[in-house]
Amino acid sequence: MAKTAIVTGSARGIGKAIATKLAGEGFNIIIIDACPIENSEETAAEIAKLGVKTKAYKCNVTDSEEVNKVVEEVNSEFGSVDVLVNNAGITRDGLFVRMKEEDFDLVIAVNLKGTYNFTRAVAPIMMKQRSGRIVSISSIVGIQGNAGQANYSASKAGVIGLTKSVARELASRGVTANAIAPGYVETPMTAVLSDKVKEAMLEAIPMKRYGQPEDIANAVSFLVSDQASYITGQVLSVDGGMHM
Ligand SMILES: NC(=O)c1ccc[n+]([C@@H]2O[C@H](COP(=O)([O-])OP(=O)(O)OC[C@H]3O[C@@H](n4cnc5c(N)ncnc54)[C@H](O)[C@@H]3O)[C@@H](O)[C@H]2O)c1
Repeated sequence: MAKTAIVTGSARGIGKAIATKLAGEGFNIIIIDACPIENSEETAAEIAKLGVKTKAYKCNVTDSEEVNKVVEEVNSEFGSVDVLVNNAGITRDGLFVRMKEEDFDLVIAVNLKGTYNFTRAVAPIMMKQRSGRIVSISSIVGIQGNAGQANYSASKAGVIGLTKSVARELASRGVTANAIAPGYVETPMTAVLSDKVKEAMLEAIPMKRYGQPEDIANAVSFLVSDQASYITGQVLSVDGGMHM
């Protein structure tokens, strides 16, 4: 039976690249996104051309009831949940002293609580199956911090702490949990940055090129593969050497 992968925030950007890569490897794909359902369905239809089963859900990762319902439905319709990729994420940048409380709360709610909600929903299923792979997309700034991103950095550092704790608790049940820390990746999220910021980023990347969504998808593909069965609780930087 084909394995099933849930990828959050996968209507576009890095999530879409991850979903496409895993589909190419034969996983049935569940697209989760808060954007209009037509966008997610369009992505699902593109991915279905690779010959796998796909389904798109409009679901806000911050809403635990909605998340639990979706995961239950996927498990009964697809027969298992083998992979969860926590990828949905947002930024609300601003200097710390001026950062609004609502911008702090929202970024934590989506990036960290959203990761908790989906991980919490799939963990019992994976434990029962005695197999499963959880990969959460953190960020280089969750490791080293970044001026103007106190909320985002805190959320991404939180994802790393959550990942390591879950990895320790689920290891004996055949479930691994790892995080990926991308550097600068060209997506709609980073397209809004000024040319000055983009140039400064490029300067800081030893490989002198921006990351592509496929670079992150390749790392996810490895971490959910049989080759990575003895790897858990790790943070894999995929950043052209920015952080080492
Ligand atoms: N682009 C980068 O340089 C970079 C670097 C490090 C980490 N990341 C992380 O990678 C992940 C993907 O980023 P991206 O650049 O592809 O961003 P993106 O904005 O292009 O895509 C994010 C997707 O998540 C969805 N989403 C947002 N809030 C949601 C919610 N509450 N519920 C469900 N879906 C929601 C959006 O609709 C969108 O489709 C994020 O977690 C981001 O923090 C990105």
